[in-house]
Amino acid sequence: MCGIVGYIGPYQAIDFLIEGLRRLEYRGYDSSGVATIHDGEFAVTKTAGRVDGLVEKLKTHPAPGSIGIGHTRWATHGPATDLNAHPHIGGDNVVALVHNGVIENFRELKEQLAERGYYCKSATDTEVVAQLVAAELDSRRPNTKTAVPASVADQYGPLIEAIQAALAQLRGTYGLAMVFRDWPDVIVAARLGSPLVIGVGDDEHFIASDGSPLVGHTDRIVYLADHEIAVVTAHSIRVIHRDEGDVRHNVKHLDIDTSQVELGEFAHYMLKEIFEQPETVQAAMRGRLNRDEATAVFGGLNLTPQQLRSIDRIVLTACGTSWHSALVGEYMIEAFARIPVEVEYASELRYRNPPMSNNTLLFAITQSGETIDTLAAMREMKRKGHPTLAICNVVGSTIAREADGGIYLHAGPEIGVASTKAYTSQCVVMALLALYFGRIRHLSFEAGLRIIDELTVLPRQIEETLDTNDETRRIAAKYASCNNFLYLGRQFNFPTALEGALKLKEISYIHAEGYPAAEMKHGPIALVDENTPSVFIVPQGGVYSKVISNMEEIKARGGPVIAVVDKDDSQAVELADDVIRVPAVPEFLQPIVTAIPLQLLAYHAAIARGCDVDKPRNLAKSVTVE
Ligand code: G6P
Repeated sequence: MCGIVGYIGPYQAIDFLIEGLRRLEYRGYDSSGVATIHDGEFAVTKTAGRVDGLVEKLKTHPAPGSIGIGHTRWATHGPATDLNAHPHIGGDNVVALVHNGVIENFRELKEQLAERGYYCKSATDTEVVAQLVAAELDSRRPNTKTAVPASVADQYGPLIEAIQAALAQLRGTYGLAMVFRDWPDVIVAARLGSPLVIGVGDDEHFIASDGSPLVGHTDRIVYLADHEIAVVTAHSIRVIHRDEGDVRHNVKHLDIDTSQVELGEFAHYMLKEIFEQPETVQAAMRGRLNRDEATAVFGGLNLTPQQLRSIDRIVLTACGTSWHSALVGEYMIEAFARIPVEVEYASELRYRNPPMSNNTLLFAITQSGETIDTLAAMREMKRKGHPTLAICNVVGSTIAREADGGIYLHAGPEIGVASTKAYTSQCVVMALLALYFGRIRHLSFEAGLRIIDELTVLPRQIEETLDTNDETRRIAAKYASCNNFLYLGRQFNFPTALEGALKLKEISYIHAEGYPAAEMKHGPIALVDENTPSVFIVPQGGVYSKVISNMEEIKARGGPVIAVVDKDDSQAVELADDVIRVPAVPEFLQPIVTAIPLQLLAYHAAIARGCDVDKPRNLAKSVTVE
């Protein structure tokens, strides 16, 4: 939700700002803007709409200078207009500021500021922060004029004091980057609840919401923590706690390469990421299968074998697509480990107070590691003393850092807003956990080994599954004008029905509902007509013949049926109007294999309808507001 960039160094800032904003556009694309400092003045260019529009506008409203900040917005307060676009200016051109997050007390602050003569022009919560910083700076101005800095550290003393005072008045969340008319050689960045990193270059520094804009510029990264304020010049970084003194910052290695953030031969990131799945699924398993002990191994759980053995309940919490992988996990862990599992929407769990036994283990599942509800739910469980583990893709993200331990997906950056490769990797990690917990409980050595064998051939089977691309394109074109879809599956394939429906909704704006196949008799069957296709996920398994009966029921009412079936299926193919054949895999791996043609179906339907696949309307990849 909103992307932030900043640059200070020897080069024109605008080049990094624009490139960085393009890489962060997945975080929001309602409006965009930049502010640089040139000849002691701000150059601010901003516009409603995408970064491409900003680039156009910069042709007539250039932003020169070697220091600057930029923003791409996902609107929370106020519509996507030029006026509401960031950066916002505080006071008499005292500060230019970009913000990611939500300021909850902005109304009170706005009134107080107006009484002090600082008026907001936009409808945003952000402008209040800019005015507040300006007010705090102005109130210290006499000191700044008279004081002679005793040392370089003191040079920014009044600036830091003013920012500490301003931030202490904010309630809510923020990732902020600011530049100042009177300190034209410094960017100040601050975070509470919204991610922010600093890239360390040679005599230059970069600010960004995550590591992706830094790729190609530097592989040295500093992750800011909550309540930290960074004072960044071209040559130095100083990190200060909002309410305390200086804190040591660690420079870490950023492990992303250029090919991972570029499109290459693909038309869209979503398609690229779908096609990466043989490799990403492999990466999720790499080094984690131990044949000698017929189990899975994880490096970072940070819990003793005794603690793990005493777990008698697992809670999986997540949002969106990650929540669907949690459902898959529930089926897998209960089947192999016989541990009761509950799946909770993080947005519900954070405000609920469910009874939890002492030996409850929480997993927060999240691609970005920044989803605010997932973070809040995890913090609440942690506060209650439960061990919390993260299953996360983005290295160094807030959830990854705050969890007691965790498992990285190693899927590489996922840029398409609709999650694809992260989902299948999450499901693979779920299978590994099911194997692990199974093996410390009742699962035999032979059964463990069989699961390892089945997982080992999975990347090859996913490769084969991608052959469904042409057939899904044809089917998508056939039904792209329909306004409603049903997705039906049972047992392990029920979460796939939910995920298939979500993918279609997200990127093609076709209404779709996912249902347990047998439940459709209790309502959704009323929707069935010749213009409402039902997508059945019906590979061979314990409930195959039951789902075939549900297909009959739909056919009897004139509804078109698209069936995802095993390669050698003979029954479902007789009934279905259109068929997508996938390799036969054991039931617990079916959610991984069957999700892929449904990702492709959604992709091709969106293309057929002329939708912007990588930037679907109203959505953002990383939801850092409630
Ligand atoms: C947003 C994204 C989804 C994602 C969800 C949870 O809604 O558009 O693709 O599944 O957030 O995100 P997370 O990063 O926590 O997995």
